[in-house]
Order: sequence, then C-alpha cells, then structure tokens
Amino acid sequence: MKGSTGRDVLVIDDDPWIRVLVERLLSSRGYAVRAVADGAGAMAALHDGFAGVVVLDVNLPDIDGTRLLRQMRLVAPDMPVILLTGQASTDLALDSIRDGAFDFVDKVQLAARLPDAVDHARLQVESAAQSAPFAGIVARSASMRAVFRAVQSALPSRVPVLIRGDSGTGKELIARALHVNGPRRDGPFVAVNCAGIPENLLEAELFGYEKGAFTGATARKLGRFDMARRGTLFLDEIGDMPLALQPKLLRVLQEGEFVRLGGVETLTADVRVVSATHRDLEEAVATGRFREDLYYRLSVYTVNLPPLRDRAGDIPELARHFVRVCAAREGKPVIDLDPRVMELLCSYRFPGNVRELENLLAHAVVAARGALLGIADLPQPFLRAVALERRKPAPLVEPPEAEVEAPRAPPEVRAAPPPAVETGNGKPTVPVRSAPVPTSFPTLREMSRRHVADALRVAAGNKAEAARLLGVSRMTLYRTLKELEEPEP
Ligand SMILES: Nc1ncnc2c1ncn2[C@@H]1O[C@H](COP(=O)(O)OP(=O)(O)OP(=O)(O)O)[C@@H](O)[C@H]1O
Ligand SMILES: [Mg+2]
Repeated sequence: MKGSTGRDVLVIDDDPWIRVLVERLLSSRGYAVRAVADGAGAMAALHDGFAGVVVLDVNLPDIDGTRLLRQMRLVAPDMPVILLTGQASTDLALDSIRDGAFDFVDKVQLAARLPDAVDHARLQVESAAQSAPFAGIVARSASMRAVFRAVQSALPSRVPVLIRGDSGTGKELIARALHVNGPRRDGPFVAVNCAGIPENLLEAELFGYEKGAFTGATARKLGRFDMARRGTLFLDEIGDMPLALQPKLLRVLQEGEFVRLGGVETLTADVRVVSATHRDLEEAVATGRFREDLYYRLSVYTVNLPPLRDRAGDIPELARHFVRVCAAREGKPVIDLDPRVMELLCSYRFPGNVRELENLLAHAVVAARGALLGIADLPQPFLRAVALERRKPAPLVEPPEAEVEAPRAPPEVRAAPPPAVETGNGKPTVPVRSAPVPTSFPTLREMSRRHVADALRVAAGNKAEAARLLGVSRMTLYRTLKELEEPEP
C-alpha cells in the first residue's frame, strides 16, 4: 500500500453490498479501491501507509464510526474522510464536519453523490500538496497555513462558514477563495455588506420583493439570495445585521427557504453562505444585539484570521507581493525593497493589518523614483507611527511570534467557538497607534534596554548569540541585563 496516491480510496463498511457498490462506482472513475469491513482493518490500512480518500460507514461492528474518525485523524490528520450516513440529517453532518470529516453522503444517495464527493476530496489532497494553495493569497506563517487547511476542509461542504478577524486581515479574500476553489466556482459570488445598507432596505436587498409589495414596488426585484443561486452568498459585517432581520436569516440557514417581500411562494435558497465579521459576536449576543441561535448556526465552522502582528513572518513576502503588483499597475519597472525598509516593516505592529501594509506600499511605489524603494519613499504618517512605537519601553524579552503549529484536528472548527482572535469593536483606519505621545528624550538606559531587547529578539532569545551580536561576552550581557532590570536610580 506504500506509495499510494490521491487516486486511492479506502472504503470501510461491514455491509458487503455497499463495499461492492462503492468499488464499482469509483473504479469506473479510475480509483483504486481497497475495502475493509471494520475499524481494525481501517487502522491496519493506515499503518500500512494508505494515503488517499477514506469512505467510512458511521455504523461499524467494532467501533463507532465517528470515534474511528478521530483515531484515524491522529495517524493521518490531513486525510479526507467521507462519512456514509444512514439517513439525511443536518445535525449528523454538522457533527461529523466538526469532528474533522471532509463530507458526508447519505447511503440512499450513494450512487448519485459519492463519486463527486470523492473527486472533491482528491482535488483537496492535490491542492493541499501545493505550497501556495490559493491564488493571490500570500502567507507562509504556521498560523496562516492552519487557516488554509481549515479553508481546504470546508471547500466541498455547504456548511456555513464564519470568517473572523480584525479589520484588514483578509476576510473577504478568504471568502472569495472558498468560492473560487469550491464546487460552486461556476456560480456567482454575491457579496452583501450588512453594515453598508440602511436597515429598512436590507430585507428587500437580501430577499427581493414582488410587484406591489409596497408603494413604489412596480416590478419584481430579485434579492441577493436569488442572485447567488448555485453560488456563494457572502454576508460581510454580519455582526451589524439588524436584530429585526436576524430571524429571517436564521430561517434560510435552517430550512434553506425564503419568501420574497409581499410574496407567497416559498423559494429554495440554493446558496453557500459565508459570513464575516470583525466584531465580538459573543459580546453582541451577551448584550442582546445578536441572536444566540443565529450565532450558533453561523459559527459552526469558524475560520479565525490572526492579526498581522501575530504573523510577522508573512510581512516580507506580502511586502514583495504588493510592491510587485503596485509597480505593475503603475507601469513601473521591477522595484526592490531596501533592506532597511523591510526591517522597519517587520518591526511595526500594523493595527490596520494587511490592508495597511498594502496601502502603505502603494503610496511608496508611486513615490519611488529608482529601482529601489527606500525609507524616504514611505509615507510620513507611517514613519511617525513607527517612531512613536519605538519610543515605547520594550520588554527585555518579547514573547516569540505566535506561530505555533496548529493542533492536528482543525483548530478553527468548533461548536461554540471561543474566538482565537480578539476582535476589536471599531475599525482602525488610521495607522497611528493611540499610544501617549512621549514628551521626554529617551535616556541612555532606555536606549540600552531597547538595544539589548532587539538583540535578544533577533537571536530568538539565545543569550550567547545575542552577546555575539552586541559584541560583548556572555558574562557582560548577563551583568547588563541584571543592571537594566534593577529599578531606575
Ligand atoms: N494574505 C494576503 N495576501 C495578499 N493580499 C492580502 C492578504 N490578506 C489581505 N490582503 C489584501 O488586503 C486587503 C484587505 O483584505 P480584505 O478586504 O479581505 O480584509 P477584511 O478582513 O475583509 O477587512 P475589513 O474587515 O476591513 O472588511 C485587500 O486588498 C486584500 O487583497
Ligand atoms: Mg472585508
């Protein structure tokens, strides 16, 4: 079994008829199908090196299918598993997706649905193998790789996805990636900004209206749920959805149905709903501004985008990407970044996240006169913000960048998500941080603190290396650290 490819399928079912049927359905599509009857056989196949798509019956003689799923994910965390269920049930679907299943197929629809589901799973395996899985999205940090994995897993399913993250972290970009890489890519991507449309118009905008629904409704108007048919509906700023409209949205999500304003006909909502917010939804629920039931429905599958300051490792590549794109747009030749500019960018906290970095570099590219983008090309407000930030006392040893490899099961999937990302309540639009403006000149001691802290950061906390960078012995560094930690004389 070693050396198997994405074209390999392992089917686990105690019913011999199902095993034969799955084999027939899939071998005609070019898959090599291996069949086992129970959990023990499945684990043996994994230990034997199986690496393809798994089709797993939830009712097995020796182990509960969802338990086996969890065990399998410990051995092969990224392996796509499609569950075979006895009866169609949204709850089981949600539970299995939460447990890390890739998709689920009702046995009654086996012939109609399984081959496509396996195809999607295989495509996922293939694209996950590529280093940059989503075109136009630049990221290399571990936290963003975890985001990519969560997005990949969500692609073939219709479960609503909630994307959370501070302003400018790339929520809309991820929503579009979910659409263009998923099975609905040939359908429309329709975005609605729930905060940008007046409350009294939003209902008609979302659900449409019939002729004569109200004065002035001279003809039928299609709503966004109509327009997004067979595609994706992106509900941006969902945290700003008016309370009065929330029950209607909940109904569409639960029943998959809606009625146009002034209409009688119940229409099917054939859309995949992706929503996004930078708001603290838990707080909105606690203060009665957001319905709890809607919150649970939307947040079954949550993707958390970390703020840029927690993934500074992404900054160099993002910077090069934006400079390249902006230079091409401006019709300028290839521009390099002065290493000192890169250093400044990497040390800044970017309260406006990726959007702030992008805008900053767009300005700089326009300002740049040569083939090298220098500090003088950076906008003044940014340089002032960096200077302010640098004047704040730095801790002697900063915590390392939060780029811990995510746990093996998708961390972004949870039933009731305690957000990994703290979301602010307002939108930071001004790049200048609201730190108090220092009035005094930094002392020599303060400068030393900062310099030593910088060295330790560059040396990733390794004191011997930091001492080498500072040109002193390790003993001197220890003594200096001790002195600097003593209270100011
Ligand atoms: N990883 C990335 N790679 C390339 N471009 C990115 C990335 N993340 C964000 N961007 C760019 O940054 C800008 C902001 O992204 P986006 O609009 O998706 O953020 P957002 O989270 O929706 O922001 P807001 O909350 O303000 O609506 C966009 O121009 C987007 O293309
Ligand atoms: Mg947005």
